[in-house]
Amino acid sequence: MKTQSPVIVALDFPSEAETLKLVEQLSPDMCRLKVGKELFTRCGPSLVRRLVDAGFDVFLDLKYHDIPHTVAQACRAAADLGVWMLNVHALGGEKMMLEAKTALSDSGAPLLIAVTWLTSSGQAELDALGIPATPEQMVLRLAKMTQNAGLDGVVCSAQEAVVLREQAGTDFLLVTPGIRPADASRDDQQRVVTPQQAMTNGSSYLVIGRPITQSPDPCKTILTINSSLV
Ligand code: C5P
Repeated sequence: MKTQSPVIVALDFPSEAETLKLVEQLSPDMCRLKVGKELFTRCGPSLVRRLVDAGFDVFLDLKYHDIPHTVAQACRAAADLGVWMLNVHALGGEKMMLEAKTALSDSGAPLLIAVTWLTSSGQAELDALGIPATPEQMVLRLAKMTQNAGLDGVVCSAQEAVVLREQAGTDFLLVTPGIRPADASRDDQQRVVTPQQAMTNGSSYLVIGRPITQSPDPCKTILTINSSLV
């Protein structure tokens, strides 16, 4: 374990230069890093390797969803980059998740988590798909499926963390975005939770983007969050 901090900084930047400008101010003992679809599509595996080589735990947030064999091979390729954690879409089904986890069964393989029902999709999207469930029921159902497939946890909102922690027990990772320190702007997040509240709700890791990446002093912002959680 490189850091005790639950903070994962979301590197939502459009270029390597902007990413490195921030990362050079940080160190692996204060936080982990998340590389998502925009940055990966622009900068590719070489940037991920560079962050890993700099000593950071990297969460590769590409949310794989495809036929089981393809997802398993993609997970293997991500593991070969040396990432700490990666994810799939639970909607890909239990077989897809099982094959993905099996592809990562060697020691030292990254953690594998799943996205359940995206917070940007609500009741209207479920109704349009003809799925007779509420978003909360979907989250619980998909989290159960994720756990049955042997994955390490899910991405969920910090509001959902309370009930998921009850359902899934203590060892299942709950990785929560939508986090805002009390004095930070909400940006476009509808429902936000403070770092302290998220941890009280049962979060394992906090994904935090703009409050850190847009801060005039990102390092200080992370250290303030870390010390608020001790
Ligand atoms: O800047 P901010 O803290 O809002 O960034 C949150 C990060 O978490 C972004 O990378 C976003 O894509 C991701 N995320 C989210 N809500 C979800 C799933 C992922 O905000 N439901």
